[in-house]
Amino acid sequence: MVNSFDIIPKYWYNIIPDLPKPLPPPRDPQDAEFSRIDLLRKILPKEVLRQEFTIERFVKIPDEVRDRYINIGRPTPLIRARRLEEYLKTPARIYFKYEGATPTGSHKINTAIPQAYFAANEGVSHVTTETGAGQWGTAVALAASMYDLESTIFMVRVSYEHKPMRRTIMELYGAKVHASPTDLTEFGRKILKEDSRHPGSLGIAMSEAIEYALENNYRYLVGSVLDVVILHQSIIGMESINQLEALGEEPDTIIGCVGGGSNFGGFTYPFIGTKRGKKYIAVGSSEVPKFSKGKYEYDFPDSAGLLPLVKMITLGKDFIPPPIYSGGLRYHGVAPTLSLLVKEKVVEWREYTEEEIYNSAKIFMKTQGIIPAPESAHAIKAAIDEALEAKKTNDKKVILVNVSGHGLLDLSNYESMKNRVMKK
Ligand SMILES: Cc1ncc(COP(=O)(O)O)c(C=O)c1O
Repeated sequence: MVNSFDIIPKYWYNIIPDLPKPLPPPRDPQDAEFSRIDLLRKILPKEVLRQEFTIERFVKIPDEVRDRYINIGRPTPLIRARRLEEYLKTPARIYFKYEGATPTGSHKINTAIPQAYFAANEGVSHVTTETGAGQWGTAVALAASMYDLESTIFMVRVSYEHKPMRRTIMELYGAKVHASPTDLTEFGRKILKEDSRHPGSLGIAMSEAIEYALENNYRYLVGSVLDVVILHQSIIGMESINQLEALGEEPDTIIGCVGGGSNFGGFTYPFIGTKRGKKYIAVGSSEVPKFSKGKYEYDFPDSAGLLPLVKMITLGKDFIPPPIYSGGLRYHGVAPTLSLLVKEKVVEWREYTEEEIYNSAKIFMKTQGIIPAPESAHAIKAAIDEALEAKKTNDKKVILVNVSGHGLLDLSNYESMKNRVMKK
């Protein structure tokens, strides 16, 4: 079926029916004073909620959304990293899918567009969300502006102060950006009362965005972890399958980085579901060690516990990453489908330190010229290690890696990483 698609598919792929075991469903906490599942109905656009629970293997991409994908430059390039191969002296062939080519610089736009489209179709006038470093906020700001929706973004205060350029981009797209905690929500006011200079956190910003949406009958757009987000992101893997086929290549090892799991799932699931490829590697950060130290249990996706409990590999909803760490991938959990695939040993995992990913980013810049997002540099590090491993056995395998974003607005991260690495 996939073979006949144009490079940009007409369907998103949903891995749920093809999982090796049934996915444990989201649930309400016992003795909960309110139902989180009911709350989900009030905050998500209806079609987004419907897709979250769909068991269809293929979900049609609305023509209007596919048109927008084309309009932002999809399909994104699949590039053979020849200079990187030469530099590593590996017999392996390395290809990277470059999601940094979208206007907002990451894969996040792939789900922001359909979510904003569904919201607009349902007569919603205003959407909200949270953002940390600003990749997701930027995607929502652009998608909202495409459909003439107003958007309010709760940006973690420290990022708001340290990432003024991402804030400017969101504002240029027409979003209202607030440093969270704000005095616009009850939750924010409570935090500010305790500490008027609170630096904020993703969990707090998420709770504020949800509360603000509920209060005003706006809708909340979700950036990762949930199944519907990975469904939309499957555009990455579906395109890659078509692009590889056009080149006559068969993939062996497929690699992506993991924050909540959306770019990894979007990239690898269409391969996993159609039994393409032999090895799948999910890469996290040693500083946020969810794969090595996390537990597989029911936990809240957000720190305030407003969303339903989901079964996932998690460090706990209150996990705080080390303050002096700039590599991204700070989220405490792993999407439920990916957690299950890791537990079932379909997907392997790796974790790398800030120093390792910094050095890999430098190699990628030297050989391919692209400054990767710090998040994506984790996946690049794994691709380099796999290519070096292949050298030992003269294995001519094909390695695919998703470069989920560019790092042009993360230069302050690289600056601080550079300073720390140099001091060692
Ligand atoms: C460029 C980039 N890559 C990866 C991630 C990790 O998120 P996810 O695992 O949902 O793809 C982020 C998160 O903001 C990101 O901005």
